[in-house]
Amino acid sequence: MSKHDTHFINVFSVVIGLLILVALGIFAFARVVGHTQERQVLEERDYSKNVADRLAPVSREAVAGQDNAALAIKSDSGSAGSAMPVALPKDGAAVFQQVCSTCHGAGIAGAPKAGDKAAWGPRIAQGKATLYEHALKGFNGKSGVMPAKGGRIDLSDDLVKQAVDHMVQMAQ
Ligand code: HEC
Repeated sequence: MSKHDTHFINVFSVVIGLLILVALGIFAFARVVGHTQERQVLEERDYSKNVADRLAPVSREAVAGQDNAALAIKSDSGSAGSAMPVALPKDGAAVFQQVCSTCHGAGIAGAPKAGDKAAWGPRIAQGKATLYEHALKGFNGKSGVMPAKGGRIDLSDDLVKQAVDHMVQMAQ
């Protein structure tokens, strides 16, 4: 064997050796990642529950003479089965905390910041009726878009009005 051949074989062996190491590394990594996924995706309680919810029959029938307690209609708010397990806020301050402060808390997306007298002064001057109307139906003003009821159309008009009162109070 010539000196060149020996050199080639040495280099070649090292390269092949490295490639095998890399392949083993990737293999090991894939196994680790595969297990993580199994745990997080397949065994996650929310995921399993969502699947169970989707597979549940659309309708159930009450049978005469049997215990039909499981069919009682439950209120959607805060029940474990609802997609959004958020309890309905009880008063204006709670609505503000839960919903309106997303935008009005820090004054993002052009929303007048709660407690900012300069931003609220001219708005309050329009009168409560206008503010209510804009909060309930939505409002496309100069500085941005106020979504109807702050995007929570499930809230009662009364609660939204209380939230407006709350923000007006904060700016006085
Ligand atoms: C997605 C962001 C967002 C959320 C959430 C939001 N607002 Fe607003 N709101 C805005 C923006 C932006 C404006 C300013 C619109 C303009 O004047 O251009 C505004 C303006 C207002 C005004 C003044 C309207 C006027 O006539 O000047 C009131 C009142 C108001 N919001 C009430 C609420 C209440 C009550 C909630 C919660 C139920 C709420 N907002 C949630 C973005 C939001």
